[in-house]
Amino acid sequence: MDKKYYILTFGCQANERDSETLAGILQKTGYVPAAELFDADIILFNTCCIREKAENKVLSQVGELKELKAEKPDLIIGICGCMVQQEKMAEKIHRRAPHVDLIFGTHNLDQLPELIKKLEETKTPQTQILADLQEIKEDLPTVREVPFKARVNITYGCNNFCTYCIVPYVRGREKSREPQYILKEIKDLVADGVVEVMLLGQNVNSYGKTFDPPVTFAHLLEQVNAIEGLKRIRYLTSHPRDFNVDLIKTISGLAKVCPHFHLPLQSGSNKILQKMNRGYTREHYRELVETVREYVPSASITTDIIVGFPGETDEDFQDTIELVKELRFDSAFTFIYSARTGTLAAKMKDQIPLAVKKSRLQQLMQVQNEISLAINSQLEGQVVEVLVDGCSKKDQAILEGRTATNKTVLFAGSKELIGKFVDVEITDPQTWVLKGKLK
Ligand code: 5AD
Ligand code: SF4
Repeated sequence: MDKKYYILTFGCQANERDSETLAGILQKTGYVPAAELFDADIILFNTCCIREKAENKVLSQVGELKELKAEKPDLIIGICGCMVQQEKMAEKIHRRAPHVDLIFGTHNLDQLPELIKKLEETKTPQTQILADLQEIKEDLPTVREVPFKARVNITYGCNNFCTYCIVPYVRGREKSREPQYILKEIKDLVADGVVEVMLLGQNVNSYGKTFDPPVTFAHLLEQVNAIEGLKRIRYLTSHPRDFNVDLIKTISGLAKVCPHFHLPLQSGSNKILQKMNRGYTREHYRELVETVREYVPSASITTDIIVGFPGETDEDFQDTIELVKELRFDSAFTFIYSARTGTLAAKMKDQIPLAVKKSRLQQLMQVQNEISLAINSQLEGQVVEVLVDGCSKKDQAILEGRTATNKTVLFAGSKELIGKFVDVEITDPQTWVLKGKLK
């Protein structure tokens, strides 16, 4: 009987993409997907460490597998992803969870079959963690769960060193993928039925800078836009420091690039932005938003904001609130600052008490939720084009999809529509979703 695998993925799109590669590697090795965790012969935790919460969640879930491992001694439990790239983390995992068999880093995915083999031969736990990516490995096998949407890496790693962020330490230095590989991958995906791609990088705007001659992100978008059969192009994440008027103009002229701009603001206070090493001011950010709205009037604009960064005073926080009220984002991911060992901010004085951080988060969310609802309410009665993703988790008779502006739309419809573009009339806009009916 075939051996079965089960992968639990935490964190961002880059991890989701890595899990597709892990699935591809395991299937090539002869494994098949397990319907549920308890059924699997190998369980992999593809982890995230961006905030402490993410890390604790993994450690507690891994802990819960102790009994299963005692019942099934041949079960392989592996931990990979960003968390294990941190200094001394492998030792910590071995100490806290001796039932873990494999620990491997974000640059060691391709070594998984070797590690499994060594583990089976030696019956001793295996650890393999490379600090940085030596060279990009093309052509690793991939298994996608969704046939019509795909994630495509364009850069790996990050060079920005925002002072709160662990990513540059766990994903290594920024490297761009050669455009010909990216374009070939997307053409193959389209031939395979994909209509929407998400181009992935920690800072997509710095794509191609190291090539000789350099290739810009705008130029890459133009080439992707020209691929026949592809319908929608998204990208994640942008850096407001590197997002410029030329890129906005280019995007405004490319029909397939979705009119959705995710521009992580992080803070509305110039003092805090500087302490975060973000490289822009609130004035620059405001100008960027104004330019987006000038060239792409239909655009939705979303953001990420951290509250309670070290040294954030009530005044600094009010600067954030004011800017949020002024710029009116469609939605915002809001986070409580979490100190990450190894980052500069973790060592800064004036860490903010948790109670203050929580109260600021509540205030910010309340302000943003009102704005989101007000913006969404304007869509009542309008017809929007939706790419249908699947059934709603709560109700199988309800379909869920996204507009080009990346808003979630819920409506009644049959499963045959999954993967198709449909027109939906918005009848009940809410803060987080738009409810509607098929036209
Ligand atoms: N604490 C809280 N939020 C963080 N982010 C990154 N690092 C931290 C941290 N240490 C947030 C940023 C980023 C998003 C992906 O996660 O807002 O844009
Ligand atoms: Fe982290 Fe800043 Fe890099 Fe984003 S750009 S991954 S926030 S260091």
